[in-house]
Amino acid sequence: MLALTGIEVHYGAKQVLHGVDVTVGRGELLAVLGANGCGKSTLLRAAAGLQPMTSGEVLVGGEPAGRLDIAVIFQHIHLVRRRTVLDNVCAGALGRLPLHKSLVPALFPAEVKEEAMACLDRVGLADRAHDKAGRLSGGQQQRVAVARALCQRPKVLLADEPVSALDPAASEQVLALLAELAHDEDMAVLAVLHQPALAARHADRIVGMRDGHVVLDGAPDQAVDDLYSYHLVETVS
Ligand SMILES: Nc1ncnc2c1ncn2[C@@H]1O[C@H](COP(=O)(O)OP(=O)(O)O)[C@@H](O)[C@H]1O
Ligand SMILES: [Mg+2]
Repeated sequence: MLALTGIEVHYGAKQVLHGVDVTVGRGELLAVLGANGCGKSTLLRAAAGLQPMTSGEVLVGGEPAGRLDIAVIFQHIHLVRRRTVLDNVCAGALGRLPLHKSLVPALFPAEVKEEAMACLDRVGLADRAHDKAGRLSGGQQQRVAVARALCQRPKVLLADEPVSALDPAASEQVLALLAELAHDEDMAVLAVLHQPALAARHADRIVGMRDGHVVLDGAPDQAVDDLYSYHLVETVS
């Protein structure tokens, strides 16, 4: 579904991705791990079209990725804290609407609000729709960010360290949600994580990176052992 092929990225003269190939199937949650600075975020930004590439190709379903095919969520959750949860989720649909730049929340079409409610329900937070986003816990806010991404109706969901700011229980919940979206909605989900154990519990496949190269790609159990033996992650997670 998502195919990244031969991705090369330079920052000035420095090459940080050296021809990375990664695929994520429909219905699959792929976890990407590797030491700080190995190029995980750069890869994710390149996949999302947010990072100029020296060369490489990003295909979704065999076609060049369209503007709305790929949704992204980040470690730092960019919700408008003073707006309601529902307004924040509606914003995910804006890219699909004509004249969206002139829309204020009061004017969100009813069908957008309905869909946003369905997305909130999907992440288990329909009952918080009318609360101010800033009143929710970190884990709940990240689930709102997932709902907002869903409202874009993407085929692919990318998440850059989505649980790094969350406590262990909230981390499990968000990862379980991402796996569920992959499995039940047939999305291709790629999450950059830094905890091998968390990845092993939730991901269908794990990719390990070092210095801008993919150095392992496999089933979670084997991959987690390899992450340690190749020193791609700290020994304590
Ligand atoms: N905007 C940038 N300009 C220059 N160098 C960058 C920039 N962003 C990241 N880098 C460098 O590129 C390398 C990969 O960074 P990054 O993709 O953020 O790694 P990771 O997410 O795996 O920690 C690092 O050496 C980092 O310092
Ligand atoms: Mg990063």
